Formats: sequence, structure tokens, C-alpha cells
Amino acid sequence: MIGKNIILGVTGSIAAYKALDLVVSLRTLGANVQVVMTEAATRFVSVLSFSALSGQQAICNMWEENGLSHITIAQKADIILIAPASASTIARLACGDASDILSAITLAATCPKVVCAAMNDNMYVNTATQANVKTLKSYGFKIVEPAYGRLASGKIGRGRLADASDIIAAVQVAIDEQKDLLGQAIVITAGGTREAIDAVRFISNRSSGKMGFALAQAAWQRGAKVTLISTATPPLELHDKVDITMVDSALEMQKAVQQACLQASAIIMAAAVADYKPVYQEEQKIKKTSEHMTLQLIRTEDIISQVSGCCIKVGFAAETADLLKQAKDKLKNKNLDMIVANDVSGGRVFGSDNTQFVIIKKDGSSHFYEDMSKTEAATVIIEEVAKLLNKEDK
Ligand code: CTP
Repeated sequence: MIGKNIILGVTGSIAAYKALDLVVSLRTLGANVQVVMTEAATRFVSVLSFSALSGQQAICNMWEENGLSHITIAQKADIILIAPASASTIARLACGDASDILSAITLAATCPKVVCAAMNDNMYVNTATQANVKTLKSYGFKIVEPAYGRLASGKIGRGRLADASDIIAAVQVAIDEQKDLLGQAIVITAGGTREAIDAVRFISNRSSGKMGFALAQAAWQRGAKVTLISTATPPLELHDKVDITMVDSALEMQKAVQQACLQASAIIMAAAVADYKPVYQEEQKIKKTSEHMTLQLIRTEDIISQVSGCCIKVGFAAETADLLKQAKDKLKNKNLDMIVANDVSGGRVFGSDNTQFVIIKKDGSSHFYEDMSKTEAATVIIEEVAKLLNKEDK
């Protein structure tokens, strides 16, 4: 669950206090937990308790943020867990009602959803509730049935919120089911190469490596074995998830890519590779002896064009003009399966946390994506890579 963004929906049930323990357990397992409470839930447990334990402000009002916030929250979620889920929340979800913040987020989210029912036993067995549960199952919701035992009324029956361990196990299963890239080895390059001029100077570019790091994270989260070949130091949280080879020059990157691709099912070249390097790399620092200096450069090899075998090849195109034409030419000339093209004019994209891009595939289809974070972009790109890999496997 490390790094997973879990929305924990809490609804108006006497079992709401048990969700406090769930927050702690999920965070201990490494998940980020955003609590979303219905108005009824706030009558049982304070917002403050959930905010304090989750480390972020619990959300309980649709109108507190700007009108789009439920969409933004939904897009970031890896899993929605609703525990406890009351009869009325289940009914709302079953009929697509988006009248409160939790149901609005759930309706907008495309991630897996785990619903842990908890209510009075008569309410649970009621035909209406059972029909709603059946509807949710048919929509793909995972339902954790209530447990048998003493209820708030003092009666013994089926209605208690399931044990925390069963709820966590259901979340884990839902996460594991998303690991559709298990068994796939993906090579990802990141950063801008550095071509030495002399002992202290080099030629490089403005690439930060952020896109490559986000891709590595997204591919790893879907179960792929990831080899990251990078010129820039990846963030700490990536270190234990992926194999990292640090390189400097285009030549070093080329060797590392060739080696890694022997075992790989896909390569994503997000790195900005130098097209030219100095013909000579002076061993000593060059002294300023004259008014002018000419640096003689020679072409580097095109790394991705030289990758052969059954690998899916995905390139990036950084353009300042004629985006579509340039990208389509690169797709063809480099024999790629897919290209992600960025308009980098005016200093856009390079170094930024956000990007806008167009994905073009070998079959000529293309799709534009508006401004989004590189983390979100990585999810979109890996989804497309997964489709290509799945097609290849058939
Ligand atoms: N690329 C590569 N080896 C190189 C140069 C680029 O593998 N020597 C890859 C990049 O990682 C990227 C794609 O090719 O995935 C396109 O890179 P880009 O810099 O946009 O284009 P170039 O081919 O270098 O052409 P130009 O600089 O003329 O636009």
C-alpha cells in the first residue's frame, strides 16, 4: 500500500469511530489517507479526530472548496474505501446520486471502490438495501459484508462493521487486482544527458527528470519491474521500488539502455538526450587564452532507434513549433509504437511539475491532454503502454 492514495469515506453509523483505527492501520502500511465524511458521520465522530490521525484536513462539505474539488480529489484516488457505509450512502451510490461530497467523489472516481456495510440487521436484510448492494456489485464495487455479533441495539445479528483486518485485506486485494503489469519489465530513462567539454564543464539541457520519475512510480504501482536509467537523482521514495542506474552522458545512457532492454518488454525514453557532444573531452580545465572559442561537436547515436527486439518503444518529442508534424515524423523515423509530444516553447514543461501533451500511436490515432501534474500524466501514459503490452501478449 506504500504511496497509495486512499480515500476513506466515513458515513453516519455508530461504527464511525472504528474508522479512526482504519486510518492508523492504513497509514502504518504506507498509504496516504484522505478522509471524506458525510454530514451524518460528523455527528458521531469529530472532523478534528480524523484530520489529526490522517495528517490532512478531513473533507466533509461539498461547498468548502471550489466547485471542481470533488473531481480533483476523485482523480487522485487509487482506491475509495467506504467504512462504515450506511444504508442511505449505499442507496445513494446505487442510484448515482451525487448530492453529498462522498457520493459525488465516488461517482466521479474511476478507481476501485470497496464498500463496508454496517447498519442495523433489519435494515441490511431489507429488500431495498439488498437490491442496492446487488446493484453496487454489478457496477464493480467490492462489498465487504457486515459481521455477525452484538449490534448497537443490544441485539445479536448481522450488521456490525467487519473486522479491520478483513477490511484491510479487501483493500489489498483491490490494489493487487490493479497490478496488471506484473511480469512486465519496463525500462524508463529520465533527465538530461551531460556531455563533458573538459574536466569541469559540460553541455546539457533543462530536463529535470520529473516525468521519468513519475513514469517509474506509475509503472511500479501497476506491478511492473522497473529499471530507471537516469542522469538526475530520483526522489527518495523511488529508491527501494525500482532498479536505478545513474548515468551521465548519452553514451553511458545508450550502453545502460542496451543492456536493460535485453530483458525488457517496453522502453520509455523520457530522457532528453544530447544530440551532439564535444569531439574532444579535454582532461584538464580549458583556460581562457583567446577572445573566441570554437567547440567542435559530433552527433551522438540515437538511442531509441537502436533498440531492437520485441520491445514496445515509446519516445517523447520536445518541440517548440509544428508539434504534431514533428512528433509524427519522429514516431515513424525512430520506429516507435507511441510518442508523447510536448510543446516546450516559452520554457514550458521542462523542470515544471505540470505538463500538457499529445499521445500519438503507430496507427495514426492521437489524443490531446490538457494541463495536468506529471504524476497524473504518468498514469495516463502508463495506461496506454499497458494497452500496447496487453495487445502484444495476445
Ligand atoms: N532520443 C534518443 N537518442 C538521442 C536523441 C533522442 O533516444 N540521441 C530520444 C529521446 O529520448 C526522445 C526521442 O528520441 O524519446 C525524441 O527526442 P527529441 O530530443 O525530441 O528529438 P531528436 O530525435 O533529438 O530530434 P531534434 O532534436 O532534432 O528534435
